[in-house]
Amino acid sequence: MEYHLKCYDCGSVYGADAAFARCKRCGSILEVKYDYATLGLPKGFESQKPRHRKYLPFYPVKKLVSLGEGESGLVRAGYIGIPADEVNLFLKVETGNPTGSFKDRGSSVEIAKAKELGFGEVCCASTGNMGLSIATYADYAGMKCTVFISRNGNREKIHRIRKAGAKIVLVDGDFNKSIETAERFAARGGLFLCGDYHYRKEGQKSVGFEIIDQSKKTPDYVFVPVGNGTLLASVYKSFLEYRRMGILGKMPKLVAVQSMQCDPFVSAFKEGREIRHIKPRTKADAIAVGFPTFGFEALTAVRKTGGDATAVHDNAILWVSQKLKKHMGIGSELGGAAALAGFFEMRGDDMRRFDGKTVVAVITGDN
Ligand code: F0G
Repeated sequence: MEYHLKCYDCGSVYGADAAFARCKRCGSILEVKYDYATLGLPKGFESQKPRHRKYLPFYPVKKLVSLGEGESGLVRAGYIGIPADEVNLFLKVETGNPTGSFKDRGSSVEIAKAKELGFGEVCCASTGNMGLSIATYADYAGMKCTVFISRNGNREKIHRIRKAGAKIVLVDGDFNKSIETAERFAARGGLFLCGDYHYRKEGQKSVGFEIIDQSKKTPDYVFVPVGNGTLLASVYKSFLEYRRMGILGKMPKLVAVQSMQCDPFVSAFKEGREIRHIKPRTKADAIAVGFPTFGFEALTAVRKTGGDATAVHDNAILWVSQKLKKHMGIGSELGGAAALAGFFEMRGDDMRRFDGKTVVAVITGDN
């Protein structure tokens, strides 16, 4: 589909061949703006099997760099240690992706874009999973890759990123400091900057498309964990696009979940104010993000869908993650189980709220 890039804040417009991640004028994040009149869905699109590749017409690339990402299961949740029979609870399980998280969906588009634009080298900042995914896809595409990660980051993830062939730069400071460092490195070296920017957001839309295509009844609620807020913004955009195409009627309510030990998004939502940078103290390292890049977009998504937000104590997330493994055999890291923990938390506050409703929780990763 034809598109241009537009600054989220000041509205500056750039062509589709622009290779930078932030607005040149104000430094804000950019958005991919499609000309939907040029969107040609193939005949029989709606009856095609739900899988990442099916949604190529909704991505800003001609071809994906694919390692078999997506096409994850939407499974009916059985007993997970807390009875919830009155709720039609489903889990969108992203842990079977090639590198163990939903991040591979974004990487397949980002790396394809880097290739289309003629780059041979990429870099990114990450709390771990995104770095592992980008390193793996870059290696597959024959590109060099550098990953910036906090010195306090998850050791095992750092080891795996190195094994995937990337150079690691350990950063003194949190994830937001890693982002700043990666952005400077990319600008100085003329590299393609991967990470939580507009192209990744497009690739991750397939989580939302698949949820709609796999659901017999449109979900009433979709619970999504929030680190940078990109996944939530991606799912929202997929719903908007499906509605525009007449494929989706009623919009599911989006519910954002964070750890209580790192909740800049949830506290801003609850207090009706702007998001402020906080120091992450959570053990859920994947979502240890003190200031979410896509926070404003994610706030809009939650508010516009009439959704909600909740923060869950690390110990409660761990408990849910363990129950998920024990009762359903589904492994999850803390960030990966946070959305489900958020559902149980909210249901605990109001036992009847979700009765008779169809609820989806995204289990985002297991590294
Ligand atoms: N779940 C997992 C397993 C993640 O790795 C992340 C983010 C999220 C949820 C939150 O998604 O950032 O789009 O709101 N991980 C990033 C990383 C920050 O570097 O791997 P988000």
